[in-house]
Amino acid sequence: MKIAKSISAFSNIRNTFKGSIGFVPTMGALHDGHLSLVKKSNNQCNYTIVSIFVNPKQFAPNEDFKHYPRTLEDDIKKLNLLNVDLLFIPTANEIYHEQYTDINYDSAMFSVLEGITRPHFFKGVCNVVARLFDIIKPTDAFFGEKDFQQLRIIEDMTQNQNYNINIRPCKIIREENGLAMSSRNEYLNENNRNNAKIIFETLKLGIKLINDGEKKISNIYDVLIKKLSSTPNLSIDYIKIIDYKSLIEFSDIIDNNFIICVAVYMGNTRLIDNIYNE
Ligand code: PAJ
Repeated sequence: MKIAKSISAFSNIRNTFKGSIGFVPTMGALHDGHLSLVKKSNNQCNYTIVSIFVNPKQFAPNEDFKHYPRTLEDDIKKLNLLNVDLLFIPTANEIYHEQYTDINYDSAMFSVLEGITRPHFFKGVCNVVARLFDIIKPTDAFFGEKDFQQLRIIEDMTQNQNYNINIRPCKIIREENGLAMSSRNEYLNENNRNNAKIIFETLKLGIKLINDGEKKISNIYDVLIKKLSSTPNLSIDYIKIIDYKSLIEFSDIIDNNFIICVAVYMGNTRLIDNIYNE
């Protein structure tokens, strides 16, 4: 695996690649969820490029930018084992150079779900992803359904900004107890990590209720909130049943295009997850 730490070093190598080029943007602290994206890119594309960049623009001052887990040596080992072609590890100064200006992109989807507690977040994500798309020039880019709202926003941004890139959604990879893998799971103590299995159990209960015929959103919320609330150290940020495409919450009766999205705090750690009918 080649490693580039500057845009010019990156471009010299990138320009030798011909054919389909899969791109997996990450913030590092890689786990099997990230690696599943890399494997999918390897299977579908001639070349795979991974980036590791903890993007300051998507963290609010009160969030964990400084303490976000950074495990570069381990990450490199994992990517080497998967035969990644090129790893890009830019500095913040190169990504956001002196003449850099934010892209002019906004969306109604920025301000729902995650956007309510994290109003800065999706603007920051779109800025860095657009910047990386411009530098990397992939044919395909891989995003996890774990961050479903991010995936939908990137799909729309790619279309609206006329990027000629196929956005490839990737399934959520879970720990043995059902907890969706996340770099932030490392913050959980053993008890909380174990108890966090309630999140996926609640989502599966939602699917069961709906598939058994319950379509009234308030009835579904009642059951799911009750189940989640029974867990020690857990507080609910939101649980919402929304339209898969628009991310708009159903007002009364849900239809088949639903997805259930949830965010909770386990202790101080914020965890998100979602489920929809396959
Ligand atoms: P990060 O949290 O490092 O995630 C990188 C990619 O891995 C995202 O597409 C995310 O959805 C995916 N991913 C994380 N956990 C997963 C899991 N358990 N199963 C499947 N996929 C999973 O998301 C970001 O970084 C950043 O916002 C980024 C897009 C890199 C922009 O800075």
